[in-house]
Amino acid sequence: MFIRFPAVHSVESSPITRAGALRNRGCIMAKEFKNYIDGKWQRSASGKTFENVNPANCTEVVGRFQKSNRKDVNSAVAAAAAAQKSWRETPAPKRGEILFKVAELMVANKEALAQDMTREMGKIIGETRGDVQEAIDLTYYTAGEGRRLLGETVPSELQNKFCMSVRMPVGLVAAITPWNFPLAIPSWKLIPALVCGNTVVIKPATDTPLSVVNFVKIFEQAGLPPGVLNLVTGSGTGVGTPLMEHRKVNLVSFTGSTETGSLVAASCAKNMKQYSLEMGGKNAIIVMDDANLDLAVEGVIFGAFGTTGQRCTACSRVIVHKKVIKKFTDRLIERTRTLRLGDGLKSKTDVGPLINSAQREKVHGYVEIGRKEGAKLLTGGDYHNGAGCKNGYFYQPTVFGDVAPKMRIAQEEIFGPVVAIIPCNNLDQAVKIVNDCQFGLSSSIYTQDINRAFQAIASLDTGITYVNASTIGAEIQLPFGGTKGTGNGHREAGTAALEIFTEWKSIYIDTSGKLQKAQIDD
Ligand code: UN1
Repeated sequence: MFIRFPAVHSVESSPITRAGALRNRGCIMAKEFKNYIDGKWQRSASGKTFENVNPANCTEVVGRFQKSNRKDVNSAVAAAAAAQKSWRETPAPKRGEILFKVAELMVANKEALAQDMTREMGKIIGETRGDVQEAIDLTYYTAGEGRRLLGETVPSELQNKFCMSVRMPVGLVAAITPWNFPLAIPSWKLIPALVCGNTVVIKPATDTPLSVVNFVKIFEQAGLPPGVLNLVTGSGTGVGTPLMEHRKVNLVSFTGSTETGSLVAASCAKNMKQYSLEMGGKNAIIVMDDANLDLAVEGVIFGAFGTTGQRCTACSRVIVHKKVIKKFTDRLIERTRTLRLGDGLKSKTDVGPLINSAQREKVHGYVEIGRKEGAKLLTGGDYHNGAGCKNGYFYQPTVFGDVAPKMRIAQEEIFGPVVAIIPCNNLDQAVKIVNDCQFGLSSSIYTQDINRAFQAIASLDTGITYVNASTIGAEIQLPFGGTKGTGNGHREAGTAALEIFTEWKSIYIDTSGKLQKAQIDD
């Protein structure tokens, strides 16, 4: 019953050789992918495309995508506006049914989706399978909202009067999505937006448009009506800015850097639009003197170097009790040195490349800053050009010791495989160090003491706290997001997402047949 589509390059059948890749760039052009507007796959009005390359081997072009402009944005917004009435009037359970089909199609195509994602984003195949699974989980969970979308009925002050509140769609949603979770994060936005009756225009990150093209094909196959979901690829200035500024867009849902997020907020405030932001993190793991150190080391390895450190939830600070810091640090360094870098499609690879050259330069810049600030470089700290990695954006997993809490490497988001070890004397001091930071996404504590664990839960100022687990790996049935500079108070996933994508309507029904005055009548 399912229409399967092959990965653009399959792991087995298409080993990319340098000569092959050069051919790819020359006479045999890489496959071209189009925008999806009003149910039709179409070229950009600009007539231009851009290349999407594999960060593990930048001579391999994964595909050519539309370099779209304001005209394309206008067409996509017009299509989404025209589709709004019939979509919001489609009964919510029917909207949910289409989304259940989307989940089933993702299950049927999971491997192909994961392989394409590793090719364009670089993270290892086990993680891209997890990314697809997160989108599947989110879709099954949220499609069920088609039969819930719970409101409230409450008593009235007056006789023969009924009071209730129902959820209404916000209208036209612009979704601007990042490259680190190329399918999971789009699903966090698209599925709740659609089940709630909104229509959408999505702009994926320029580094990972293929995963969103694949996702949109699935919506098309599942029978989503034309215009309800539209896809426009291109740059932030070419597509993102005209999209968020378009007067017909009611809500901008953005995940990305704090700098861009504050531009989105300023633009939306000026134009009286709603917006939800999910931005940076500087997530910390506290390791107490009673912690299971082996477990803590594995948690730091997973949190700091998983996805090559390119998660909003990545562990980039470890606050370690002085009594165990030497033992912990020695084990962490030893374990870090065992990590194998390489192409994420190879089963033996532990750590893939960074997303692009600029990101690698940024990460290296922070390593230089750490050195100058006086932190001790314990392992890593440079580009990795080993066998099979020469054409990719690889960076050595890096550990700094003797880090002071105020150093820039302990305060700013690096978004790479760099972790800073900070000593502490007790839990209170550790919590203070974690909280003394502009971000508030994820935190963790390793301890065997339940009292300490609950004290930490109560006092860590982050949207997510783990006990005896890493800072990454949030599940979709709980709210996802953070405090302070991480967001603007919204949470994605869980039922919390409904707060972003719906407006409350309060309804009063008076059956008394006379004028009744709330607050005035006795
Ligand atoms: C992100 O890094 O922006 O909790 C999202 C996690 C994943 C999602 C991360 N489930 O690490």
